[in-house]
This record gives sequence, C-alpha cells and structure tokens, in this order.
Amino acid sequence: LALCIVLPGIVSADTLDEIQDRGVLRVGMEPGYMPFEMTNQKGEIIGFDVDMAKGIAKAMGVKLELVNTAWDGIIPALLTKKYDIIMSGMTVTQERNLKVNFADPYIVIGQTILIKKEIAGDVKSYKDLNNAKYKVGSKLGTTGEKATKRMIPNCSYISFDTEQEGITDLVNGQIDAFVYDLPYMEIAYAQKGENKLVYLDKPFTYEPLGWAIRRGNHDFLNWLNNYMTQVRSDGTYDKIYAKWIQS
Ligand code: ARG
Repeated sequence: LALCIVLPGIVSADTLDEIQDRGVLRVGMEPGYMPFEMTNQKGEIIGFDVDMAKGIAKAMGVKLELVNTAWDGIIPALLTKKYDIIMSGMTVTQERNLKVNFADPYIVIGQTILIKKEIAGDVKSYKDLNNAKYKVGSKLGTTGEKATKRMIPNCSYISFDTEQEGITDLVNGQIDAFVYDLPYMEIAYAQKGENKLVYLDKPFTYEPLGWAIRRGNHDFLNWLNNYMTQVRSDGTYDKIYAKWIQS
C-alpha cells in the first residue's frame, strides 16, 4: 500500500500528463515581438503564437494561461517549470537545443537590416556594415545579437533590452542600423520607416522558429508535432498565417 502512495510522486510524469492533470496549459512568451506576441490597447497579449497556443489548449481540452516573461530569462524559467512551453518566436539553435527540445519548426525566417537613409548609398548588405564607424544594434540574447557579433564583427555593436528601443534609436539617428528577425522588421519598417529608413530585406541567416519544451518529454513532443502536421494540412495554420503576416 505504501508503494502505491509513494510511487506517483517518484515517477516523473511527462509534461503532457501534468498539463492534463492541471487542466491548464501554461505558455511562456515575451510580448513585444510583432506579429507573434504583442500587447493590444486593452492590454491583452495577441499574435500568431497566441492563436496557435489557443488552438493547442482547445485541442487538449484545457485552459490557456499566458506567462509574460523577459527574453533573457525565458529558457531558465522553462527549466524551473514556470510554464510548460515557450511559444515566443524562438529560433531553433544548436546551442539552445542542448538545453531544450524543440517541436518541428512552424516558420522559417532570417535576420534582416534596417538602416538610416543617409548611409543607404554605401550599405547594401550586412558586409558593408563591418566597420567600426557604424553603430549597429540588435536585441540582448537574440539570434540577431549573435549574428551581428559573428558576421559583422568589426561594427560598433549596441545591445538593446527591447526591439522597440532599438527601432526608436534608429529612427532618431542614435544608431546607423538595426539587425533583427524579418517579420518584426517588416512591420517596424511599415510603421516607422517612411522617409527615414531603408530596409535591406534579404535575410542573411537561416532561422527556423520552434516551440521549446523541457528535454525528455517525448509524449508532449509527439503531441505537438502531430498537432503541427494536422494544422498545417487542414487550413488552420494558413488562416493564422494570413491573419498576422502580410505577403
Ligand atoms: N528569433 C529570435 C531569437 O530566437 C528573436 C525572438 C524574440 N522573441 C520575442 N518574443 N521577443 O533569438
């Protein structure tokens, strides 16, 4: 009898079981990354990832809880079980994949560059920015930051806490260029770029975005990948894509 009581506590359940027992799917995300997760005027978090998260919770028959989390702590908080999954436009990188499991990617993007109009004659690609005279920004802890440091090593790199601050400094002329994920930059350019910025929209990195879960949760991973196959084939994905991404 004692065994029966103790065992369930010892045997660690797959996250999939935990979600079902709790009746709630908890999703970690950092809003501010248009069009995947952002805050609307009512203060609600909306976007591509949010719609996907709603679909997952519905298909599982559980409630959805969005957990607003700073980007630089988003993986540590997953590992300490603050939430079940990261759905936050996260690029699948080999480095992150040592710490977390990723579901099959849901979109492929790449780094692009917004530059101030004044340097457009001299700067046609990331290679032309590889000079200490150029102040190039990206966001702390992102693949944009990694790519800038690796591929534009000689620029004067400036790290921003949020993508919005980077764009603001670029528009105000405090920096010369901002490097970031294509979908975000497309919207930023449409909103703030006119007469001030030039958009170098050819991606110079290859970046699949994927949902991250704690390692070893095979059942949860299997569920997510089959869900992805389903929604990609039955029109659900296309609808969400068309709603948030203009093409
Ligand atoms: N794709 C980039 C990365 O993985 C940026 C993602 C930022 N996402 C966010 N919700 N702020 O580093």
